[in-house]
Parts: sequence; structure tokens; C-alpha cells
Amino acid sequence: MAGGIPIEVSGLTKRFGPVTAVEDLSFTVQPGRVTGFLGPNGAGKTTTLRVLLGLERPTGGSATFDGTAYAALERPLETVGAALEADFHPGRTAKNHLAVYATAAGIPRARVAQVLDQVGIAEFADRRVGGFSLGMRQRLSLAYTLLGDPGVLVLDEPINGLDPEGIKWIRVFLRTLAAEGRTVLVSSHLLSEVQQSVDDVVIIAKGRLVKTGTLTSLELDAAPRTVVDSPDRAALRAALEAAGLSASEGRQGFIVDEPDPGRVGHAAFVGGVEVSSLHRLKSGLEDSFLSLVEGASDAGTAAPHPGTTGEGGDR
Ligand SMILES: Nc1ncnc2c1ncn2[C@@H]1O[C@H](COP(=O)(O)OP(=O)(O)OP(=O)(O)O)[C@@H](O)[C@H]1O
Ligand SMILES: [Mg+2]
Repeated sequence: MAGGIPIEVSGLTKRFGPVTAVEDLSFTVQPGRVTGFLGPNGAGKTTTLRVLLGLERPTGGSATFDGTAYAALERPLETVGAALEADFHPGRTAKNHLAVYATAAGIPRARVAQVLDQVGIAEFADRRVGGFSLGMRQRLSLAYTLLGDPGVLVLDEPINGLDPEGIKWIRVFLRTLAAEGRTVLVSSHLLSEVQQSVDDVVIIAKGRLVKTGTLTSLELDAAPRTVVDSPDRAALRAALEAAGLSASEGRQGFIVDEPDPGRVGHAAFVGGVEVSSLHRLKSGLEDSFLSLVEGASDAGTAAPHPGTTGEGGDR
């Protein structure tokens, strides 16, 4: 295996006519770690990866492998394994499909059987790809990325369409690749889908960077709050207001922007209000992710230029 090298995206902008798909995006992806490239539908993930892989020309900025553009790589298949939308010739068998690429790249044919085995579809090697299920196609794309034993893997939504067993399998698979020192970048529109597979996250929304860091740092962003309820909600609301605590009313009572339940309980006590429940609410990672990307949507940053569509930046 060639060593894992960092992926560097720097000031990347990509416009399609009036649509700004990616705007001034910068981040780095480190070897030896699995990085989740996350954002809602239309955030610009695929566009970024297509620029990185030389399939689109950037409007501005760059996306490189340690400073080298994909097109300038000497042995691309042995440096970077990439799986974007799976596009297979339906009439070819899995084995033939991979053999074509191996031959073109000067990779020994024996490698084909190895990678099919590695992704768990060796038994389907002689089947035509046209009859493959979505999960089998995903595994075949992964087999393709491994052909050249590359140090960098770039995978666009590789978990889409996998069954629970497939999802478990891919977690181990990604972790193993990173543990071998490879750079692994995996996109997804769902944090929960990759939460157990990733070390780092790069979160984008509307084409712009929202957050980058470790998964743990994202967990810390999910600020704990307090849930409190009373048989007399009007009195409780008044007591919270009197204590200067901001709260929103939900099904389980009031959700108070205060991590310490003791302070909320004290406010109720001071107001002479009976409390029927009082506990800390630890918001999940997914909540934290959603509030990050929703915050970015409110800003409406990389929306189509005003006046060119009727959608007013709600894309
Ligand atoms: N070839 C193109 N021509 C015009 N607009 C495009 C083109 N490719 C992408 N876009 C637009 O760029 C934006 C980002 O799209 P992109 O496919 O990169 O998002 P994504 O994050 O991969 O979304 P998803 O989760 O749905 O795959 C969208 O508004 C999309 O419509
Ligand atoms: Mg996409």
C-alpha cells in the first residue's frame, strides 16, 4: 500500500451557472482516521468529491491529495480509491468489470479475486452486475476502490442501501482501512449512519463549512438542558420567567436552557410551584448535527443567486 496522504480542500468554490454548489470551502482529512463528510441533501458533498477526483473543474480554490491534483497523480488507482455513483455495465460480470480496470491500470489480475473476497462478494464474481442488488453494487464499488491497494479512499454515501448486517460490516471495514494508516473519507447525509464509524467530521450545509473536528468535539457541542414539569404549568412558566430562565414548552413539560436541574428546581421552589418531574436532558449527537446544519440554512449562504429561481434560498 502507498502511504496514506492528507486530502486538502482549500477555498474551494464551485458554481453551476447561477447555482453555487460549494463556496469557499476549506478542510483537511488526515491519514489513519475515518472522516465523515456530512451535510443534508444538496449541501455540496458530491460536488466537492467530484472536484477532488478531477471530474469537475473548480470555479475557485483547490482540492488535492497533499498538494497534488488527482489528474496529476502518477498512479491514480494505486494512490486513491474512489467510489462515487456506481456506474456499472449491466452485461458484465463483477469479475470482468474489475478486470477491465485492473488491466487499464497495469494491476495484476489476481488482485480482482482478492478484492471481491475482501468485500464479501466472491461468490457473485461470475454473475452479471445487472442483476445485483443495491447492497451488492455498493460492495462491488468498494472492491473497485481497493484494486490498487491505495492509501486514500474517497467514498460517496457508501452505506446507502446496505442492510443492517451490511452496515455492521462496513463499519469494521472502514475502521480496518484507517487502522492500516489509510486516509478514509466517507460522505453521508445522516450523522447517525456513520456515527459509529468515524473519528472526525467535516460538516457542510449550503455549500459552506459548518464544523470540522473530532466526533467527540461534536458531542460536547450538544449542550445539556433541563426538563421540568408541574401540574400547574402556568405557575411554572411564571416561576421560570421570574428566575430569568428561558424555556420552551413541549410534551414532557418545559425544556429549559440550563444544564443544572438544581437551579431549575430552585426557581420552582422560590415561585412556590409543585414540580412533578425534573431531569437533565442530554441532547443526542443527531440533535447537535441538525441544529448546526439548520443554523446554516437560516443564514441561507450558498443559495442560488437571488432572483434566478423562485425558491428563495430554501434549497
Ligand atoms: N451538474 C450540476 N448542474 C447544476 N447544479 C448542480 C450540478 N451538480 C450539483 N448541482 C447543485 O449543487 C448543489 C449541491 O449538490 P450535491 O449533489 O453536491 O449535494 P450533495 O451534498 O451531494 O447532496 P445529496 O445528499 O443529495 O447527495 C445542489 O443544489 C445541486 O442541485
Ligand atoms: Mg451526493
